[in-house]
Amino acid sequence: MTAIGVLISGRGSNMLAILDAIDSGRIPARVECVISNVPDAPGLGHARERGLHAIALDHRGLTREAHDRRMHGALAERGVDLVCLAGYMRLLSPFFIRSFPNRILNIHPSLLPAFPGLAAQRQALDYGVKVAGCTVHIVDEELDHGPIVLQRTVEVRDSDTEASLAERILAEEHIAYPEALRLFATGRVRVAGRKVVHTGPPAAG
Ligand code: GRF
Repeated sequence: MTAIGVLISGRGSNMLAILDAIDSGRIPARVECVISNVPDAPGLGHARERGLHAIALDHRGLTREAHDRRMHGALAERGVDLVCLAGYMRLLSPFFIRSFPNRILNIHPSLLPAFPGLAAQRQALDYGVKVAGCTVHIVDEELDHGPIVLQRTVEVRDSDTEASLAERILAEEHIAYPEALRLFATGRVRVAGRKVVHTGPPAAG
């Protein structure tokens, strides 16, 4: 069973989609720990309502690495071997990223490499793209950059606002993240350079 740690900063809807997929038996994994760097993040309450070990580790007043070392300690204590960023709104230190090589996933609301960074849906609308979407990728030391696990697309409508586009992309995120996790938790992915290769299930025995 894969032991997952989820890092959040806000409402936690992707975290809930992951939990629902685990509870329905689609992902052979357990969420061992939820950490929010924002003490009053609504997602923390949702995690506790689901009976999870959910803690606030406020980053304020600490260097990035000092904060990340605290998070790493909390995750290691719970035996976490795969970290999911689910609306975690801070950059991670090289220390943290190197502690979980190819074992940190993130979801971003654009078709990377287009529109990394903040307000990706607004960037897509302003650019005038006709197709938008979301990306689940492995985290490396550059922002929104690591190997892509999977992507889902959404058509952009002339009538779209940032909110309406974000809502349709979010619905796809809630499909994409559990699916990406299922691939990892069932050993169906191999990382080759910057490519994630989808493989069959590992041979028995
Ligand atoms: C999502 O749009 C995700 O792609 C981005 O932050 C948002 C988090 O939403 N990284 P939620 O907290 O999972 O509801």
